[in-house]
Amino acid sequence: MNSPIGVFDSGLGGLSVASRILQLLPNERIIYFADTAHVPYGERSFDEIRKFSRNIVDFLVSKGVKAVVVACNLSSAVALDTVAQAFRQIPIIGVIKPGSKAAVAAANGYPIGVLGTTGAIKSGAYESAIAELDPSIKVVGQACPKFVPLVESGKSDSDEALAAAYEYVAPLLAEGCGAIVLGCTHYPFLRKSIQTAAGLDVTIVDPAQETAIALGNILMKYNIEGDGADVVHEFYASGDWAGLVAFGSKFVGRDIGSVTRVSI
Ligand code: DGL
Repeated sequence: MNSPIGVFDSGLGGLSVASRILQLLPNERIIYFADTAHVPYGERSFDEIRKFSRNIVDFLVSKGVKAVVVACNLSSAVALDTVAQAFRQIPIIGVIKPGSKAAVAAANGYPIGVLGTTGAIKSGAYESAIAELDPSIKVVGQACPKFVPLVESGKSDSDEALAAAYEYVAPLLAEGCGAIVLGCTHYPFLRKSIQTAAGLDVTIVDPAQETAIALGNILMKYNIEGDGADVVHEFYASGDWAGLVAFGSKFVGRDIGSVTRVSI
């Protein structure tokens, strides 16, 4: 019951999901893994992403997690089935199904725009998940290769970020999108720029909230909810951890102390 929840991403992005989990499920303990040795994932082959994801889940399972949240859209798109089959002993959820549910609810029948990494857009995962919910909704994908490096280098609030947001959002506005999904967990850190570029008539959808709800429902279903005892979060990174210490501390509201380096 009080075993931790494993949450992972290529880097800092998954903290946007972890923070929603903590808001909604404050009794849960989180083990966060940032694969900073391999970030960005966006341009890598799907086979590589599957291999990294498997190794990370293997590590999280060795730490005794009771569930895993794949807090990376690309891994959710191409590796969720692989890891779910390899580690059947625990529930593993991704962000794309919850994100699609939130997008369909927000779009009001208008086309849905999806901002994502090159790989996530190429995978077509949002198109498929949204089509399962409502096949009549048009989905427009836009790859945003400049975004993750901007977030990882601490430039989320820069002029560069705003210029990139205008560039990537313009094609979605041209298609009349009523909602734009942040289809990469790094993008909530760019939310201000993306909303400015999109204007206030467009709803920006962050899959994190719906993902936290999906996790809460699973914990309830299996009767494995934490009771709030010894809630100490742990942070691991496969490479550089300076950004993780800074962001992670902001996220838990106090100095997280150390990040442990683990090779996967
Ligand atoms: N944050 C990840 C995602 O949600 C991947 C970012 C990357 O490393 O390209 O897709």
